[in-house]
Amino acid sequence: MTNAEKLEPIEQELVDAALAARKNSYSPYSNFAVGAAVLTKSEKIKTGCNVENASYGLAICAERTAICKAVSDGESEFTLIAVAATPLATPCGACRQFIAEFGGQIEIICVDAESPKNFKKWRADELLPARFEFK
Ligand code: THU
Repeated sequence: MTNAEKLEPIEQELVDAALAARKNSYSPYSNFAVGAAVLTKSEKIKTGCNVENASYGLAICAERTAICKAVSDGESEFTLIAVAATPLATPCGACRQFIAEFGGQIEIICVDAESPKNFKKWRADELLPARFEFK
């Protein structure tokens, strides 16, 4: 399946970064490799992959890896996030909460890593309305 809609050049760049990061996935338990890339407001790209562990529950998703790398590099404003997996996967619940923390308007592009013309787009608040807020 392909999309009639085309990605903007910056969106394509982010998808390419997510595809490249996926190659570093450490996922010997699930064999499910995921790559992610976030675009910061200052137009920097930070990437991440999933990192699993023999103690399965300790696995860290690609999206959270990328966001943690960005935030620890001093970047916490995001406009876009790309996620690459096969088959196309949407962020898990924990990652939705993690992404929405930084703004409901963040655009999420999920691509099929083996067929990247197959993509879907959402806003963070579409995937997680009424996120938990600490008030
Ligand atoms: N995974 C991600 O990296 N992102 C998600 O949003 C969903 C799941 C990873 C976690 C685990 O390493 C593997 O995919 C299988 O669940």
